[in-house]
Formats: sequence, structure tokens, C-alpha cells
Amino acid sequence: MPDPRESIPASPPALTTDSGKSGISRRGFLKGAGLTAAGTALLDGVQGFTSEARAQSPHGVTEFGPGAIPVRLHVNGAEHTVEIEPRTTLAEALRIHLGMTGTKVVCDRGVCSGCTVWLDKMPVNSCMTLAIDAIGHHVTTIEGLSTEEKIHPLQAAFVKHDAMQCGFCTPGMVMTCAALLERNPHPSEHDVRHAVSGNLCRCGTYPKVFAATLDAAGTLRNA
Ligand code: FES
Ligand code: FES
Repeated sequence: MPDPRESIPASPPALTTDSGKSGISRRGFLKGAGLTAAGTALLDGVQGFTSEARAQSPHGVTEFGPGAIPVRLHVNGAEHTVEIEPRTTLAEALRIHLGMTGTKVVCDRGVCSGCTVWLDKMPVNSCMTLAIDAIGHHVTTIEGLSTEEKIHPLQAAFVKHDAMQCGFCTPGMVMTCAALLERNPHPSEHDVRHAVSGNLCRCGTYPKVFAATLDAAGTLRNA
């Protein structure tokens, strides 16, 4: 099964130039389709920004910030409204504003994937994702993986295989591997290696992470 991260296009689809024959200019496309599609989803999650207010916005475009605005986020199955500046990252919103400190910020620059959470089951680096870009998506953090009654089989396997040392990378590693198991119930070790290729572990726990993930895959298949 293909890795969904590979389905993200490396570059936007080719557009005509402003002098092209299709009648849709690059500038027009960005102003129209881009702003409308992204903006509508964003505005729907900004509390108090009604459709009437949107209709009264000049050209349908509204500026937010730099001060805090109320933003509605869907995290671990619950709706939360946070007062955040538009520049706030998803990692900051989760840790500072929602108190969900299970998500770790290690490099804070998109290098280590220690801050991995899911957006609609897609693993993303939350330090490189603006919180407002999570509006309209289902965010899952390490706190949302298990329930009060039942630990996620992958977390149980990490404990069983002692797949952690200092633990800084562990929440991100678990979220990445759990996302793999969501989309591929029969992963090979190569699949696990490929999935965590962006997750840096300075303690070198990789062999145990591979073993834990393959073990959890078997547990989930037999559940
Ligand atoms: S903390 Fe986000 S990628 Fe390292
Ligand atoms: S367990 Fe220490 S960085 Fe991975």
C-alpha cells in the first residue's frame, strides 16, 4: 500500500501563464481558487466569523492577527476553542494552549518528526503546521491513541520491546508507526523502516521500534 506522504505532489499542478490560452491565469487561479478554498475552511473554524461577516468583507478576504483570535480545533474527538495568534503552530496550540504535552517539540524546525501528530490520520510535523491550517481536520495526538480502558497495541508493544530510551522521539515515533498500521495491516520491516525514515532517534532505538511495530501489526490483525 503506498505511503500517503508520497501522494502529496512535490509541486502544484502546472498552470497557464497570465498570457496562456486557457483563460485561467496563474494569478487569477491563486486569487480565486486558492483563497476561496483555503479561506472558506479557515474562516469556518474562526469562531464568531459568520457568513454575514464574511459577505461584508472587502473582496471576500479578511486579515487576521497579529493579535489572538478564537480558533476552533477538533482534537482527539473533542472540539476546543483556543485564543491564538495566527502564527501559532499546531504544536504550540496543543502544548501551550490545550495542555497536551505528550506531543514533543525537539528541533522545532521540521527535521526530526518528534512532534508528529495526525491530521485526518496523516502524520504531520506539528511544529511546521500552523494551527489555523488544522481547522476543519481531525487532529489526533499521542493522548488520543489509547482510551482509559485500553492501551493501543502499538504502545503496549513499545513497552514490551523496550523501544525507547530518553523518550524524546517516542511520541512522534509511535504516531508515525500507528499511522503506518492504519493504512497497512501487513507491513514488512522495510515498510516500517521507510515509515520512520524521517523520525530521528538519537538513542538508536530503531531495531526495537521495528520489532514493536511488527509485533503490534500481528496483534491488531488477530484482534
Ligand atoms: S520538533 Fe517538529 S520536526 Fe522536530
Ligand atoms: S529514545 Fe531518545 S531520541 Fe529516541
